Amino acid sequence: MKRHLISAADLSRDDALLVLDTAEEMARVADRPIKKLPTLRGRTVVNLFFEDSTRTRISFEAAAKRLSADVINFSAKGSSVSKGESLKDTALTLEAMGADAVVIRHGSSGAPHRLATSGWINGSVVNAGDGTHEHPTQALLDAFTMRRHLSGVGRDLEGRRVTIVGDILHSRVARSNVLLLGTLGARVTLVAPPTLLPIGVEQWPCEVSYDLDAVLAKTDALMMLRVQSERMNAAFFPTEREYTRRYGVDGPRMAVLPEHAIVMHPGPMNRGMEITAEVADSPRCTVVEQVANGVSTRMAVLYLLLGGSEPAIATTAPVPETAPATTAAARTEESK
Ligand code: NCD
Repeated sequence: MKRHLISAADLSRDDALLVLDTAEEMARVADRPIKKLPTLRGRTVVNLFFEDSTRTRISFEAAAKRLSADVINFSAKGSSVSKGESLKDTALTLEAMGADAVVIRHGSSGAPHRLATSGWINGSVVNAGDGTHEHPTQALLDAFTMRRHLSGVGRDLEGRRVTIVGDILHSRVARSNVLLLGTLGARVTLVAPPTLLPIGVEQWPCEVSYDLDAVLAKTDALMMLRVQSERMNAAFFPTEREYTRRYGVDGPRMAVLPEHAIVMHPGPMNRGMEITAEVADSPRCTVVEQVANGVSTRMAVLYLLLGGSEPAIATTAPVPETAPATTAAARTEESK
């Protein structure tokens, strides 16, 4: 693994599978009465959020806490950033506090890359979503969710057909998913109105279609994206109703999917726009499960980036269900 996770393209196939397999181990911790591992005790993770977030921020926080790291949450609102402090000065402040990892969400594409390559901080940088660029941990948690439903644990997504629908133009989730799913051997089709597809999409490792109904029957995972009105400065489609009619998923469309297929959404959902309540609340929709999987996946990422060369969880001696989990790393630390 590289030291930072900025793009899904930073992950080789082996890296991606290592994260997914480690996330499986982490998910088992979530089933225990005490959901905590001592692995990152004494390490500091800073969550640096310049953009609004519900799921991703609390997910990284829960992940770091379950690994026993100290967590500092920083949100730009209410901080000196609103007084005009630069990314550099904010980063230097975090460095002075001894951050081992900085998880950053920023409205500008490239901000995490700048942070990772600037020399302002020494710790690992994890991109938690930058502008319209990338959101690699979302792609990892999506792949984790797909693997559980479509391939089975320990297997890859070779040949699985994933259809990503909606506002591809503004979606960092779509970019990271196309890259990661390509690495994992899945076949991706993007479906969107031409106005919501980025320039150069023909060079991406995927197919493009304008007709949702034409691809439903050949889909194993249908990923719906939110229309990101906050990033739009023009009209990209005639009306919301028109958008929903052509690119929304409802009961009748869900019925065309193969029986094993799942409907995914990274959240937050615009119920009634890209997804009806009937689909969102159906057992085939994995939106809530994706949130739970996000914690396990981010635990795996933090663990691997912050120097997890030993197994996260001891596999030789089984741990009694009620006892706090003990890892190889923790045992070494305790014996010091
Ligand atoms: C996405 C994001 O912020 O990029 N959400 C998320 O991370 N769960 C998608 C979105 O905002 O629509």
